Amino acid sequence: MIEAIYSFPRNFLWGTATSSHQVEGDNTNNDWWLWESEGGRIAKGHRSDKACGWWDGRWKEDLDRAAESGQNAHRLSIEWSRIEPSPGQWDEDALDGYREIIKGAIKRGLTPMVTLHHFTNPMWMAEQGGWLAEEIVDWFERYVRRVVGDLSDLVKLWVTINEPNVYAYEGYLAGLFPPGEGSMRKTYRVMRNMVLAHAAAYHAIHEIQPEAEVGFAHHYRGMRPANPKSPLDRWIAGYRSRAFNDLVPRAASIGRLHFLGKRESVPQAAGTQDFFGLNYYTQEHVAFDLRNPGELFGRGFFPPDADLSPTGFIANVPEGMWVALNWARAYGLPIYITENGVEDDEDSVRPRYLASHIRQVWRAVNFNWRVRGYFWWSLVDNFEWERGWTQRFGLWELDVKTQERRKRSSADLYAEICKANGLSTEMVARFAPEAFGEIFPGATLPEGEQA
Ligand code: GAL
Repeated sequence: MIEAIYSFPRNFLWGTATSSHQVEGDNTNNDWWLWESEGGRIAKGHRSDKACGWWDGRWKEDLDRAAESGQNAHRLSIEWSRIEPSPGQWDEDALDGYREIIKGAIKRGLTPMVTLHHFTNPMWMAEQGGWLAEEIVDWFERYVRRVVGDLSDLVKLWVTINEPNVYAYEGYLAGLFPPGEGSMRKTYRVMRNMVLAHAAAYHAIHEIQPEAEVGFAHHYRGMRPANPKSPLDRWIAGYRSRAFNDLVPRAASIGRLHFLGKRESVPQAAGTQDFFGLNYYTQEHVAFDLRNPGELFGRGFFPPDADLSPTGFIANVPEGMWVALNWARAYGLPIYITENGVEDDEDSVRPRYLASHIRQVWRAVNFNWRVRGYFWWSLVDNFEWERGWTQRFGLWELDVKTQERRKRSSADLYAEICKANGLSTEMVARFAPEAFGEIFPGATLPEGEQA
């Protein structure tokens, strides 16, 4: 019996998110394909290969799954290397391919949100300096104009770039993404160029399609001082959070870049978001550590009592979602949660992670914070970058060899949430009884359900 339900507003978007390289397969013309072929770059030598077979048409069955489970939106990305295989040359068949996928989404009742850059670059562009090149802003704008010119009759919600901060840190500081560099100076340069490219894309999209809603997807990582009483821990947590979390959205808001004491004015970037795209996964503790100059004298870690995902990649910290939303709303824009999720092959953490994060989103909605939609990462297990296939984020499990899909219990939970446009006591009692007290404080767990 339903004792209570956290209800969401009408027209709230419920979806999942995917990205081209992670699901399509055979993206042979981008920098990741090369990176994967080099050996030693990806866990267990995994390759994206056929990925989830979307370019061979398997997007149809997966979008069927999304629609049948009550979702009303889908976030997907366009692969630049397919559209523009060499500079200024357009592949019309590839554009038609995306038209078909997006039409297919709409036909199934899924509002498309389309990302124009999600970590991968065409080979020609990477070879000519990638995101460090001066010309990158013009290159990106040319590509964006072509895509938006072609698809503006179908798509209204555009995400220019996915996670500029993660892209820059992983590729240019940690060296885990191509081109595998380790330079703070280049990391800054790339973030700066991404801000400029986003701004150019924002203005170009509005010129072509005035009614478009344009933003980027920002990765917010919660950072708390390990010891709140230590001034050094407090300082380093704030410092790292400003460099990682604040830099890009601030620039897109006020037109100023501020990084490690460096200031630069980028007036063309001011006010270039119609919505705030928020990717939130986890929150870490940060301690001051003199032995770690490479990471700005800080060390991030999960505390020993953290509720960890199976590979220890993510700590389940639902309050961090609330903190992230509270931080994001200061920008005064409507918010879409463009990604949230956890890797969990056995689906042992995912149901409680999903339910308790949605409860935090509901709290925000209930305070009239302008949260417009939620996209779970991800629909089906997909190629997880340098972690290959070792991490499984899908509501559906994928057998990479046979391409068979198997539904996880979380898919049923999410379907019930989407269909009810809310989260009920009864759902939590069935799918995540261990989190019942946290999610519905004061309510009684129905008889027969084990906490
Ligand atoms: C995000 C990224 C996604 C996905 C996810 C889970 O940072 O945008 O592509 O990989 O992390 O690892």
